[in-house]
Amino acid sequence: MQRDISNFRKSYSKNIINEDSVPESPMNLFDNWFNDATSIKGDFEPNAMTLSTIDNKGFPKGRVVLLKFYSDEGFIFFTNYNSEKSVSISDNNKVSISFFWEQLERQVIIKGYADKTSNKISDEYFNSRPKGSKIGALVSSNQSSVIDSRVILEQRFKKLTKEFSNKEIKRPVNWGGFLVKPIEYEFWQGGDNRLHDRIRYSLIDKKWKIDRLSP
Ligand SMILES: Cc1cc2nc3c(=O)[nH]c(=O)nc-3n(C[C@H](O)[C@H](O)[C@H](O)COP(=O)(O)O)c2cc1C
Repeated sequence: MQRDISNFRKSYSKNIINEDSVPESPMNLFDNWFNDATSIKGDFEPNAMTLSTIDNKGFPKGRVVLLKFYSDEGFIFFTNYNSEKSVSISDNNKVSISFFWEQLERQVIIKGYADKTSNKISDEYFNSRPKGSKIGALVSSNQSSVIDSRVILEQRFKKLTKEFSNKEIKRPVNWGGFLVKPIEYEFWQGGDNRLHDRIRYSLIDKKWKIDRLSP
């Protein structure tokens, strides 16, 4: 099979960013851009981000997870602590998260350190989830392990739905959040003739240094 897609080409011209007018704090710029992303029309998840981790053989892997909270401390997502990503994080907690907001011609890439959130944060978020999602977390108690068929999942879902029809579902201990504490942000804004803007913030001695990168 062979396919030539070299003529897939798009021009970018929606906006420019200037290092002289960006906020001192990258989180403020992220917040501005995230607000813009929330106003994108259509069935779209602005909080979908690619989480990249490195496994114990040195291979990187990226997969999409949902950002659920952000603050000056960092970025929080939730997952299964037995999953491949969580195992990789326990070996090497240097991670990257990235957002691509196509409609805005923007990308944000963040590097940082991931650590488990407190039980309190994980409990509060788990308790706020719809019952079906809670049961789903129980069904996939060993996320990323090999299973025989989809039927097994459906049967488990049915059984647990019955079992918990009148009972509260507590957060499984192997399910919870990670907080990614950023040390670097790169904000990318697509530009005309491939003259894209790339503004990087690097955390040096607890201060954010701002640089423009060549596109
Ligand atoms: C839009 C979207 C949102 C997702 N959100 C999450 C999430 O918040 N947490 C999660 O564990 N997996 C989420 N997933 C599934 C992950 O991409 C991935 O399949 C799963 O976490 C297992 O990854 P791992 O085996 O690399 O650990 C999402 C997938 C998509 C496409």
